[in-house]
Amino acid sequence: MRSGRDDRADGCRPVVAITGAASGIGRACVELFVDRGHDVVAVDVDDDGLAALEIRTDICRVVGDVADEATNDAMVGALGDRRLDVLVLNAGIGGTRPLAAPDAVSRLDRILAVNVRGVALGLRAALPALGPGSAVVVTASVAGLAADQGTWAYNASKAAVVNLVRAAALDLAPRGIRVNAVAPGLTRSTLTSGQDVAALAGRIPLGRLAEAREQAEVIGFLASTAASYVTGVTIPCDGGLGAATGLLPFEPRLSG
Ligand SMILES: NC(=O)c1ccc[n+]([C@@H]2O[C@H](COP(=O)([O-])OP(=O)(O)OC[C@H]3O[C@@H](n4cnc5c(N)ncnc54)[C@H](O)[C@@H]3O)[C@@H](O)[C@H]2O)c1
Repeated sequence: MRSGRDDRADGCRPVVAITGAASGIGRACVELFVDRGHDVVAVDVDDDGLAALEIRTDICRVVGDVADEATNDAMVGALGDRRLDVLVLNAGIGGTRPLAAPDAVSRLDRILAVNVRGVALGLRAALPALGPGSAVVVTASVAGLAADQGTWAYNASKAAVVNLVRAAALDLAPRGIRVNAVAPGLTRSTLTSGQDVAALAGRIPLGRLAEAREQAEVIGFLASTAASYVTGVTIPCDGGLGAATGLLPFEPRLSG
């Protein structure tokens, strides 16, 4: 048995469905779960990005918007009659507009549609395919645990995700299904590609952005039997960002 791999009692390959699979954290999840011997259903709105996934094994690709019921139905339809062992609801967008901007509320609607409605629709569609031992992992954010200037809509959406995960964990615990989240800090991906990485890194105790694979590893842990007694939690993976009060600037020199 390879390290980190959860074989099924029936000897079949475990199955994972991953949304936002074409890039960043979702793509790293595809690679991690393939490494662990899973069959993968990869969902993304980015047709070209999905097609470009170069994975050693066949994966099933579903192109669509997670805010649409049809996409989530197609994700579950792709399973046929197979059980879903792991569901990674990772698709998400940022792009908050200032409150006073004319398009502020339409952007809020879109952010909530992808980040919150998309998670709810994914969970709902997958319910019949989930069973005892199945695990759901949602990509929340440190932006759901605290807030920053200028990101109110994204903050609201990710805070909703954190509490949705708690509530879903309670609702699904009687069925033996675990529901958890990872809260990434700043992670190299298209979401952060336009930003000043050096300036951002200087505010992070570990002194660098996360790699997408580091987020995927936490997702992989939460999905695995190693986390069989963990449900309803959000694990920050933030390089120490959340450890500070924020009252004093972080000095990247040895102290104490
Ligand atoms: N990168 C960071 O610093 C960071 C930090 C905290 C949380 N996150 C969260 O991590 C998750 C993954 O983001 P990432 O950093 O890998 O960014 P990314 O932009 O590289 O990947 C997001 C993927 O989701 C897909 N997607 C976007 N909207 C979609 C939709 N409506 N339907 C289907 N697919 C859609 C995109 O096409 C893309 O492939 C998101 O939920 C994001 O909010 C990222």
